[in-house]
Amino acid sequence: MSNKMWGGRFASGPDAIMEEINASIGFDYRLAQQDIAGSKAHVAMLAQTGILSADHAAAIAEGLSQIGAEIEAGTFTFSRALEDIHMNIEARLAELIGPAAGRLHTARSRNDQVALDFRLWVRDAIDALDRQLWALQQALAEKALAHAASVMPGFTHMQSAQPVTFGHHLLAYVEMFSRDRSRLRDARARLNESPLGAAALAGTSFPIDRNATAKALGFDRPTANSLDSVSDRDFVLETLSAASICAIHLSRFSEEIVLWATPQFGFAALSDKFSTGSSIMPQKRNPDAAELVRGKAGRIIGALNALLIVMKGLPLTYSKDMQEDKEGTFDALHALSLCLAAMTGMVGDLEPDRKRMKAAAGSGYATATDLADWLVRSLKLPFREAHHITGRIVALAAGKKIGLEKLTLAEMQAVEPNISAEVHAVLGVEKSVRSRTSYGGTAPSNVRAQAKRWLARLEKDKVEHSNASRS
Ligand code: ARG
Repeated sequence: MSNKMWGGRFASGPDAIMEEINASIGFDYRLAQQDIAGSKAHVAMLAQTGILSADHAAAIAEGLSQIGAEIEAGTFTFSRALEDIHMNIEARLAELIGPAAGRLHTARSRNDQVALDFRLWVRDAIDALDRQLWALQQALAEKALAHAASVMPGFTHMQSAQPVTFGHHLLAYVEMFSRDRSRLRDARARLNESPLGAAALAGTSFPIDRNATAKALGFDRPTANSLDSVSDRDFVLETLSAASICAIHLSRFSEEIVLWATPQFGFAALSDKFSTGSSIMPQKRNPDAAELVRGKAGRIIGALNALLIVMKGLPLTYSKDMQEDKEGTFDALHALSLCLAAMTGMVGDLEPDRKRMKAAAGSGYATATDLADWLVRSLKLPFREAHHITGRIVALAAGKKIGLEKLTLAEMQAVEPNISAEVHAVLGVEKSVRSRTSYGGTAPSNVRAQAKRWLARLEKDKVEHSNASRS
């Protein structure tokens, strides 16, 4: 049987393999509600402009509402022979209301239709991700406030560098997730133009009102070039790119949680809710959730790469290659959403072992910089010279296998005679972090202020979120 929608020129139906490679209904059924919303806006505009009679428009709108309800209730039958979500819905509309259904596609093509549906879907996904990122930031900022003064080692090259606080470390991620939200907001702002009415590629001879459909669907304006409208997938690429960067942040954080949870570090125990046991080794507690978040960065970045490669070299305008834009995107944004939920849960349950972290912060001569700074401040030595003297003192302590604070004054004076007893005031890890009061530094007073600033800002976002969902 030839296709009902475009079978006029075709004598026979497609080969079975053709049907299999061509059909997208297996994944684009997810666009159903966006497709219905777009069709409703289109048909209302067709009636307003007199392109369609009010009766026909009303019958179509009613049929579309019924289809929306059927899909929601799970009673709709999706058919692969009907290729994609657009034709599945249109065919059902014909069953419900008869030949008038055929008028819905006036002044429209599947090319602007799919561009519209996918934009609406990605826009919803961005809004949902923003809320999830908000929740993660909130959990981090709360934990940071509780641990503004909990000392831990800060690392460079994965070597103990200088003591920092756990709260400061968590707030670093709040900054990263803030940039992720900002990137998604930027993508959303550029995405928010309506391609509907570009038709197949050249626009249409019908007197449509693209401003009306754009407004009805919450877009800022219609897209300005019909060719660009149906061939552009920048909005997906930008979103996947922001998602990939976010996935990298989540992956780095996961790696740290995995390290902290090892018996060797012992900085934080994982809650039962986010770890598993081993079927053979009874002592084990595995950080599976953190590992999976770390691992899922792969498929998210993979989806971005796949679509970049699909789009590369495609001539204007639509080509069927572009149907490959959806599966990876659905998968990647779902994975990111799952990762954000898991990470938010893990952060809430994260209980650092302050004693172990503090002990670790003091090992590895992490206050050596404090000693060097003291030599600069109190003895007015150039920093390079202070660095050299400190190196000799560290070597002395290391030779005796003791911490810097355990050296006697006489031992230090053997290296630099002008060192006085006051030096001991800077050698403890707590004193070290308290002294880091420069803007953005790790002093507990700074961390407390930053955590509070974030919590106040997040409270404001919450009000904006709830206003947005009401409008
Ligand atoms: N299923 C198609 C897609 O996702 C819809 C657009 C089809 N357009 C066309 N000219 N065949 O890309």
